[in-house]
Amino acid sequence: SPLHPLLQRLPKCEHHLHLEGALTPQVLFSLAAKNHIELPEDDPAFASPESLVERYREFESLDDFLHYYYIGMSVLLDAGDFETLAWDYFTHAAADGVAHCEVFFDPQAHMERSVSYDIVLAGFQKARERAESELGITSELIACFLRHLPPAHATATLEHDAVQASFAAGHVIGIGLDSSEKPFPPELFQDVYRKAGALGLKMTAHAGEEGPAAYVKTALDTLRVQRIDHGVRVIEDEALLQRIAADKILLSICPISNVFLKGVASVADLPIRQFLDAGVRFSINSDDPAYFGNNYILANYCAVQEAFELSAAEWVAICEGSIDGSWCGQERKEELR
Ligand code: ADE
Ligand code: ZN
Repeated sequence: SPLHPLLQRLPKCEHHLHLEGALTPQVLFSLAAKNHIELPEDDPAFASPESLVERYREFESLDDFLHYYYIGMSVLLDAGDFETLAWDYFTHAAADGVAHCEVFFDPQAHMERSVSYDIVLAGFQKARERAESELGITSELIACFLRHLPPAHATATLEHDAVQASFAAGHVIGIGLDSSEKPFPPELFQDVYRKAGALGLKMTAHAGEEGPAAYVKTALDTLRVQRIDHGVRVIEDEALLQRIAADKILLSICPISNVFLKGVASVADLPIRQFLDAGVRFSINSDDPAYFGNNYILANYCAVQEAFELSAAEWVAICEGSIDGSWCGQERKEELR
């Protein structure tokens, strides 16, 4: 596209990136060797990084992907591993023109296998500091709860001393909700969101990725989130679409992820044009780039451009909306504009 240089140059904000989803097959295999982690021998996909790349091209669904995602992260053990992972993401982000990002991680998935929260956070903090000083990228951390685990497990995690300390220190600014969407509607997690709201944390939740528009509605009504991750299925509820536009709820959409996980057949099937026409604020994001063809944020911008041929003014407006919808301070927003 003739707009490619503009897409590269625009100061981008990324709001939907799972750090564990930045684990490339190459890094996965090298950390497995270093940490003496056995990968499944009964699955030929784990024969080599190359066969894993091939298998990642054939995901059938969100749950099929998540199976590989949770095996993948089992190679992460010490703080240096988490630093390596996050640094790998930040260097890709810098190459793609990301100026600011708000990234997810899954504390329960590590704590469940006896990797302490402090170890995870120490690695991420080192990478974040280095990204700011060496790459000029500012970042925030969002701790996600796993909806396939009991809601009480999420609440206990929020109340864990090390987790509370990371909120108090401002190292983690918000919470999210991810993993298998159906049959775990948002309202199951009201307790943990009410407690997070009382702490003044930012709040978002995955909804309307595979699940119905009704999940987006209950995320807004019962969890009181300020943002919705994915949310593409709100297109099935016109009144909800209008409400999201009026309330300036940001949808963090992930076009290439939706294609890899079979939510849509192609990027052209996403309701991007309807969102623009209705004045819905959205950002364009990479979700789990290492699992989705090594497609980082710029590839997602380009895929949207290929499919919809937006104007330069529309792209500038998308980027301004994603700055406005960011959770950084007003000063940083001014710098980003
Ligand atoms: N965890 C990592 N990526 C995810 C996605 N796209 N949806 C739900 N949970 C996830
Ligand atoms: Zn996601």
